[in-house]
Parts: sequence; structure tokens; C-alpha cells
Amino acid sequence: MNVRKAIFPVAGLGTRFLPATKATPKEMLPIVDKPLIQYAVEEAVDAGLTDLIFVTSYTKRAIEDHFDRQFELESKLAEREKLELLKLVTEVIPKNINCVYIRQREALGLGHAVLQAKDIVGNNPFCVILADDLIKNQQKNCLTQMIELHDRFPANILAVEEVPKEQTSSYGIIAPHKQIDHYYEVNGIIEKPEPQDAPSNLAVIGRYVLQPEIFSFLEEVQPDKGGEIQLTAAIAAIMQYQKVFGLRFAGKRYDCGSKLGFLQAQVDFGLENKELSAQFADFLQHRLSTH
Ligand code: G1P
Repeated sequence: MNVRKAIFPVAGLGTRFLPATKATPKEMLPIVDKPLIQYAVEEAVDAGLTDLIFVTSYTKRAIEDHFDRQFELESKLAEREKLELLKLVTEVIPKNINCVYIRQREALGLGHAVLQAKDIVGNNPFCVILADDLIKNQQKNCLTQMIELHDRFPANILAVEEVPKEQTSSYGIIAPHKQIDHYYEVNGIIEKPEPQDAPSNLAVIGRYVLQPEIFSFLEEVQPDKGGEIQLTAAIAAIMQYQKVFGLRFAGKRYDCGSKLGFLQAQVDFGLENKELSAQFADFLQHRLSTH
């Protein structure tokens, strides 16, 4: 069955970016001139997804506004014949895409956020996209690569990447069973293990293609020590019944939930921006030679 639906869990508090995220959703922080959530939405739309479900909260209204019309701005831009800007504003999301917003009333973890979309997803495979993992691809984007694997094997697919061993406690870590081409059959997964307890250094990155059966496993997950319902726990449970694959995707990932990853993304996207590239490269070269 074709994958058409995506869940964007965007209700998190963004504590790693305070004070910037006190009144602004972390997903609205821009890389050069575009908010993180728009990069994530563009990746989903390019991968052929048409139903975008945002699990949001009362502090995240800016996200709904971003993907809505802004008539005052549009009419002013039209009046002043700023047609390129007008196009940028009106084409933030293609017209054929349905956006649904669900409010998560309490931040009780990623699994809980995903569960909020159960009735809208229904009995369909779906993606989960975490916007703070920004992935730059040369050709096929990460979700497209995952959906292609899902077309071959209608299983649960996780995006994975090697991370330094000392960073395993920041990620879901898989136990790879068998490697075939660029993907692994997974026979274990642990949420944020200490390096000595990690079954590998293959970390789950914020892209998932999941089977709808995951919802019944999510409903059974007990909260962890921090009171959160983890998506990882439901994936560990579904593994007894359905296959789970970890795809080593092609593309460069930036952890824009961390300050360093966010700065790295600004530099790389800035250097590739047509308008800024030359001047920005000059600036960086000069700056680094005097650092
Ligand atoms: C979440 C997941 C974790 C995954 C990570 C990817 O953690 O719980 O398994 O590896 O996203 O970014 P978070 O970063 O929300 O703490």
C-alpha cells in the first residue's frame, strides 16, 4: 500500500535552545531563510506524501500560521509588485497537500505524540518526521529512499546512521542482525543507552516509516523513568511480530536540535546559497585566518 501520510511531532518544549524557543517553536528556527519545519515538509512532499499531520501544542501556533495564507502580506507584496516574494509566501506548501493539526495537551514523549494521530492515520502505513534532524541529499531524499525500501518490504523502516560511541546516550540505538546492501534487519533497539550498554553505534535518526499495527503496541507502552511514552519501546515490541529494518540512508544529517549541528547547517546551507555563497565564503576564510 502506498505511503501517503506523515506525522510531524512538533509539540516538544525545545529546552536545548532556550531562550530562543521560549515564545518561538524550535521547528520555526531558520537555516538561512527557511524554518526547519519547512525543510521537513518539502522532504515529505518530494517523497510523494500528501497528508501531513502535525502534532502540535498551544505554544506552537506559529507552525499552523506558517503553512496558512497571510492575506495582508500577500496583498502588500502584490501591490508593490514583489512577485518573487509573493511566490515564496504563497508556495510554502503545494495546494494539493492536506494539513491536519492535532493538539497534544501534555508533552508525554514521542510515542505519545505519534499516538495522537492514530485515528487520522487509520489502517495505513505512515512516516514520522522529526524536523530537527535536517538531511541534505544530492539526489533522492532520505524519506524517498525509505519509502522505496518499504515498497519492496512492507515493514517498519528506521533511518540509521553511525555515531561516535560516546554519543549513543542521545539516540535510539539498534542491534543490527544481518546487513543486506544498505540496510539491516534489526533484532533489538534501546532508547539512549550508555556506550557500554549500546548494542552498536547505529543510531536512529528522525525518520521512520511504520506499519499501522504500531499503534496497538504504543497503547501498551509503559512510561519510562522520565514519565515519557517512547516510540522506541513500541518498535522493540513490534519486532516480535513484524520485521524492522534500519536503512543507512545516503545524505548528510545535521542535528539541528543541538547548537553545534544548527551552526554547521547554517554554514553549509549558507555556502550553497546562490545569493550568499561567494561573499559568505570570503567572510569565513578571512574570519578563520584570524581566529
Ligand atoms: C528521539 C527518539 C530517539 C531518536 C532521536 C532521533 O529522541 O526518541 O530514539 O534516536 O529522536 O533524533 P529525541 O531527540 O527526541 O530525544
